[in-house]
Amino acid sequence: MKQDLIAILDLGSENNSALARQIRALGVYSEIHPHDISAAELAALPNLKGVILNGGPNNIVDGVKIDVSVGIYTCGLPVVSIDHDTDLCGKISSCDSCLRDFIFDRCGCDTNWNMENFIADQVELMRAQIGDGRVILALSGGVDSSVVAALLVKAIGDRLVCVHVNHGLLRKGEPEHVVEVFRNRMHANLIYADVSDRFLALLDGVSDPEAKRKIIGAEFIKVFDEEANRLKGIEFLAQGTIYPDIVESGTKTGKAVKAHHNVGGLPEDMKFKLIEPLKFLFKDEVRAVGKALGLPDDMVYRQPFPGPGLAVRCTGAITRDRLEAVRESDAILREEFAAAGLEGKVWQYFTLIPDVKSVGVRNNARCFEYPVIIRAVNTIDAMTAEIEHIDWGVLDRITRRIISEVKGVNRVCYDLTPKPTGTIEWE
Ligand code: XMP
Repeated sequence: MKQDLIAILDLGSENNSALARQIRALGVYSEIHPHDISAAELAALPNLKGVILNGGPNNIVDGVKIDVSVGIYTCGLPVVSIDHDTDLCGKISSCDSCLRDFIFDRCGCDTNWNMENFIADQVELMRAQIGDGRVILALSGGVDSSVVAALLVKAIGDRLVCVHVNHGLLRKGEPEHVVEVFRNRMHANLIYADVSDRFLALLDGVSDPEAKRKIIGAEFIKVFDEEANRLKGIEFLAQGTIYPDIVESGTKTGKAVKAHHNVGGLPEDMKFKLIEPLKFLFKDEVRAVGKALGLPDDMVYRQPFPGPGLAVRCTGAITRDRLEAVRESDAILREEFAAAGLEGKVWQYFTLIPDVKSVGVRNNARCFEYPVIIRAVNTIDAMTAEIEHIDWGVLDRITRRIISEVKGVNRVCYDLTPKPTGTIEWE
């Protein structure tokens, strides 16, 4: 392993992630572990150079004092406790110079945390774990699964089988882009399963949002399962689990890390061993790895896109005409945002079409058509969101293009609602 490690043991603090990020920003790798890790487990962590016991107020959680195993203090490594240790100012997480003194002077760490070393380490680790085996991966085209695919292509070449499922609810050009990047440019072993008709048939007439999501989730698993069964000798399943998926912030139990089963939405009864090379990375680090592996910017900086895809943007029962109109209007919105320099500046933006028509006039005749609604929001964590204040001229251009280019649409609205009360998606 190329990277030195500082372990953060969680004693009920809410800032474990922030502290790990602060240490990584200094060029040293840091991981969060539960406070009840044993001294032996700790000793098994590769290149461990020091331990930070990161307590909540006096290491007391819900009235119960949390103690760590004595072995950790006698593990032969520098150990610092943030709420007790008088060596430090007692506020290591907000004091950069204390942190530097600890990790560089006391622990002797080198600044060797960078994406090149991460890639080299993961490639070595995955090769050792996989041996001659084969790996399957559900490749959505989102940043996490794309980076996992690129890492595995580097590690094991065509012994990785990527399955890209087109459920007919993807954005314009998306499946083609995934095939172009992975099959043609990265020479990945890619199965492209176009099962749009199957999904749309199952969704026919289904208007309840939760029912739609359940149908899509279950059918996705079925398709993936079928593809996996067709292939012989697959032992491993790769998933794009990332660190925020497994770190529980503000823990009440003192256990910092919880197992997130089935993060990728795949069934638990699949008999695969898991490969999760991104599970210790934050999102921006995942993007940096993607860049270093040569993935294109539009994949690395892709905005979030829900698993059920355009189904949640075509409210009520999905019809092919509305689905097509959502896809076309979304492509226009993306084009115009890029032209206006808003790409990458607005967190998430898309169009949707509610299941309602309104009266309009076109070519001197009455028309009864759908509205397109534009949603553009900024957020840190998607728990709350504010709308983007889009320039009137940009909105005007988008509106004129949509009403003239998208079939069956006679009106464009802009959703001004922050979250709360409006969720980002409408369903
Ligand atoms: P809401 O609508 O809950 O969305 O405010 C918050 C963020 O989550 C995305 N989203 C999903 N992502 N699978 C996903 O991977 C889903 O089923 C899903 N539903 C919503 C949404 O696009 C927004 O970024």
